[in-house]
Amino acid sequence: MIVRVLLFASLCVMSRGLDNGLALTPPMGWVSWERYRCNIDCENDPDNCISEQLYMTMADLLVSEGYKDKGYEYVNIDDCWMEKQRDANGSLVADRQRFPHGIKWLADYVHSKGLKLGIYEDFGTFTCGGYPGSKFYLQEDAETFASWGVDMLKLDGCYSGIDDMEYGYPAMSFFLNQTGRPMLYSCSWPAYVVFYGKIPDYKKIASYCNIWRNYADIQDSWDSVRGIIEFYGNDTGNFSLVAGPGNYNDPDMIIVGDYGLSYDQQRVQMAMWAIMSAPLLMSIDLRNVKPEAKALLQNDYLIRVNQDSHGTQGKRIMKNGAMEVWTKNLGFDDKGMAFAFLNLNDGGAPFEVRMPLYQLGLNEAEGYNMTEGFTGKFIGVLKPHDIINASVDPSGVWMGIAYFDC
Ligand code: GLA
Repeated sequence: MIVRVLLFASLCVMSRGLDNGLALTPPMGWVSWERYRCNIDCENDPDNCISEQLYMTMADLLVSEGYKDKGYEYVNIDDCWMEKQRDANGSLVADRQRFPHGIKWLADYVHSKGLKLGIYEDFGTFTCGGYPGSKFYLQEDAETFASWGVDMLKLDGCYSGIDDMEYGYPAMSFFLNQTGRPMLYSCSWPAYVVFYGKIPDYKKIASYCNIWRNYADIQDSWDSVRGIIEFYGNDTGNFSLVAGPGNYNDPDMIIVGDYGLSYDQQRVQMAMWAIMSAPLLMSIDLRNVKPEAKALLQNDYLIRVNQDSHGTQGKRIMKNGAMEVWTKNLGFDDKGMAFAFLNLNDGGAPFEVRMPLYQLGLNEAEGYNMTEGFTGKFIGVLKPHDIINASVDPSGVWMGIAYFDC
């Protein structure tokens, strides 16, 4: 073990850090985990099991249903794609029944659609689902992924320790760089550090990873979404400050279009993930998305806020009971702002907000072009002391966008 750690330490010194030029804006795409989990029963459930067919179907739908045109480009394999054993050379092998053509073939298919392929591994001995982990095989696995044409790696942290992660995640960053193939690097590292009650060194993490999970897994429920928003609002360790082109905090998958959220709650997830500059990785059944959910997922105004080139992560600036105010500066000159009034109360009646612009930090005397955030509807030119009136549904959100046009 000491030898291992020393090896990692020397690699760390050798590593120039992340230099793949990716994730200049938050990555967008589709990922299997939240919706399809570790369903490997292709015999009884062929349409929903983790198989090449599932990823091909979702790739097809990203294109045919218009998601790709809106920017959703990654098709991400999550856990449970492997054989339980490496091959005689120590290489990872995709499950031979469920991925009969192998991952390279699947990557070629996904690329032929103009999309990108992501894959999942784990830094520890096993993946969270019990498949072979990358421990002792980091370099081999990075090379395997590159040879398959993989475009993104999510490296989980089950079956390992947070002390080893300090060396291991940077080592994998180094090996990914060494392949010469740009692969977006998603690290679950800080989520484990937070789980053990510590504050991650986000600057260090950002120098090795493009995106990183820092909180518990999302589930198909409002409680789960609300818990994530609370964690991001608290911003313990100021992780919001590390976000920017090339680096984003990842509050986990988009579940808009799944079972658990009401329409208002789905609006909240989309608006808040836009304000938080979060990766938009949908984990839903693209074969069955209700029109209202699809419209949210493809909403141009929300996507524009999410993909703002400055990459500023929005922050909670006010909290009054269940009522919160969040703002995100837009654009390099900070002349725009997206803001959200969030009503986390489930007490039945809408909450009427009346707030002067200056309380949001909008102080330009000439005033701002104000639009409603979901529809782009022009509200008017408002000055710092003018009042915004908004009615915010229970477990709902009202979003506005202000531009200083001078
Ligand atoms: C962890 C991750 C999830 C998912 C599962 C797969 O729980 O946080 O996002 O990848 O592992 O087993």
